[in-house]
This record gives sequence, C-alpha cells and structure tokens, in this order.
Amino acid sequence: MSSLKMRGPFIRDMNTRDLSANIPYRAGRGVDEVARELGLDPDNLVKLSSNENPFGPSPKAIDAIKDAAPAVHTYPKAAHTDLTAAIAEQWDVAPEQVWLTPGGDGLLDYLSRAMLSEGDRVLAPEPGFAYYPMSARYHGAVVESYMLEKANGFEQTAATVLDHYDGQRFVYITTPHNPSGSEMPVTEIETLAAETDSETLVIVDEAYAEFTTEPSARPLVDERDDVAILRTFSKAYGLAGLRLGYGLIPSEWADAYERINTPFAVNLLACHAGLAALEDNEHVERTVETTRWAREFMHEQLEAQTWPSGGNFVLAEVGDGAAVAEAAQKEGVIIRDCASFGLPECIRITCGTEESTRKAVETLNGIIRGE
Ligand SMILES: Cc1ncc(COP(=O)(O)O)c(C=O)c1O
Repeated sequence: MSSLKMRGPFIRDMNTRDLSANIPYRAGRGVDEVARELGLDPDNLVKLSSNENPFGPSPKAIDAIKDAAPAVHTYPKAAHTDLTAAIAEQWDVAPEQVWLTPGGDGLLDYLSRAMLSEGDRVLAPEPGFAYYPMSARYHGAVVESYMLEKANGFEQTAATVLDHYDGQRFVYITTPHNPSGSEMPVTEIETLAAETDSETLVIVDEAYAEFTTEPSARPLVDERDDVAILRTFSKAYGLAGLRLGYGLIPSEWADAYERINTPFAVNLLACHAGLAALEDNEHVERTVETTRWAREFMHEQLEAQTWPSGGNFVLAEVGDGAAVAEAAQKEGVIIRDCASFGLPECIRITCGTEESTRKAVETLNGIIRGE
C-alpha cells in the first residue's frame, strides 16, 4: 500500500499523447455474442454484417494451417518469402513490390508509416471505410474528406475527388466502394493520379475487387510511382481471422518496406494459409459466383432502394436503419446499420450463401412491410 502511495504521483503523471481526435473502431457484433443475448443457437443465426466469406476459409487453407501448426515456435522467415514470391508471380511484379501486412488495414498503416509526416493532410471518401482516417491520425496526419453523393449513386470519377483535392499527401480510393458498392474505372484513377501533384499518393483499395468484373488498377503500378494498391485475403479467400493483406507498390520506393516493417509482419499460419488459398481456385470461384448471384437477388427482391454493387454486399435505404437492423436481429438476421457511415437511413447486407441470402431478404421485406 505504502509503496503504491509512493509511486502515486508518477502514475498520475503518465498520459498517452493526445488521442482525442482518434475515434475507436467498433467492430460489428459477433454471432456468439448476439446468440447469447437472444438465447438462440448460433447455428441458427445468419450473420451478414461484416462482409465475411459465407463459405468459410478455403479447405486447402485449413489443411495448411493444421500442417503448419507444429512449427509455430519458429519465426516465419521462409513462409513469408514463399507467400511474397507467389503473390509477386500472380501479379507479375518483383517480390520487393509486394508488402505483406497484417490485413489490408496493416497496409494502410505501413503506407502511413512510410509516407506521412506530422501535420500532412490526407483525403478520404465520405461515406467511407473507417480505418483510413484512423490510420492517418495515428501517424499525425490531418484528415479531409471528399463526398460521394447518394443522389448521384455514389458515383466515383476523377472529378468527384478533384473537386475536394488541394495537394493532400494521400488520396484514398475504394473500388468497389464500402458501403455503397460503387466503382471507379481505371481510366478515372489514371486521370486522378495524373491530375494530382507528384507528391500525392493515390491509394487504390481493392479489398473487394475479386467480386467485380472491372479490371484492377494494377497496370498503373508499372506506369506511375504515385499509385499503390491494397488487396486482402479477408474477403474472397475467407481468411479474415488470420489478418492477411498486402500492397502492390511501385518499384521506385518499394524498398521502404524493410525500413518500416514490424519484423515478421505476417504470422506463420497466415503465410501458409494464404499460399494454399491462392492455389484454391475452386473456393474463390464458388465464393465469387454465389456473391454475384446474391447481389442480383437482393437488388431484385429487396423491397427497398438498392444500388448496383461491385462488392460482396448491397446497400439498401430502409428509413431507420438502426431500427430495421434491430428488428432483423431479433429474427436471427444480423446486418449492418450504416449510421456510422453517416447514412442512418441505410443498411448494408453482406452477400451470403443462397440459403442465408434468401432468409435475410425474406426477413427484411417482412420488416419493411411492417408485418
Ligand atoms: C474498404 C475496405 N478496405 C480494407 C479493409 C481491410 O480489411 P482487412 O484488414 O481485413 O484486410 C476492409 C475491411 O472490411 C474494407 O472494407
């Protein structure tokens, strides 16, 4: 007691730096949590709130995780190199241009670490993915926004962004866009990169790109040094829990990775699972095919306004999004209300299996009709 008292003043003097501008990330609620609260069997719940893969991980990835488990006492040196090489081959880039990171979120942090200085400004979409501003602020930057207008179908063109552009260090582009599903054609991204200053990095977030038929912005990484691409294993590959993502980085500054990388950025199991998942075309194809079916089904059958989506989710305008999400949850369907995106009148529904998508649509239509 007395020693605690003696240390008291030091404890009281200990503060974090000023984090008041940092907004905590609130993840969607998990199945187990909701099931416990409602007294339901988690297996009877349909969870379509976090854009996860409804088929789970690739079976090949599960086997790879089991096979690698006895080796987790070792650092993932070779596994890291092997996965990097496989991704480099897939995209026809040099291995140095592949930045493996803990999730796509990790890539946002690594780019911030490599590029941002205190007081730099970044330009992020609104509505948009919450981690862009968070990562930038963690690294001392000031966040500014460009608007994607609901009235314009959340259209994304170079002009939409350039209207708000004023020399920021980063411009974040999400294509397909979360939460609307809208897309920016590569030609527009190219125009944007050409029109912005040479010190402005255009970060093209392609977290959902496997689900679209639009081409990747990958060629721009060869043509320019001011475009970087984010990809993830969390969605189409079903490995969200392993936290595995990567960047495709222009060769001119790709060597910065070694200087900013947390040693062994990606864990051993993630490296092995990612490598196996890359080879499991069947799993990705099944996921993508079902997602495209579910997207169309929701678009046609949901009795609410929806927007065309290139992602594995659909945005719908339902009046009071929080009330609809709560009512759906009581019926065992968990979806995302979009108040945190500044769209309180909307919900976002992840594409599920055929069965879970049908159940979600039926439940939501009942609620929308007031039944
Ligand atoms: C637009 C967008 N970018 C990036 C991510 C990052 O995903 P992860 O960190 O799981 O790779 C997400 C996740 O939901 C997202 O919606």
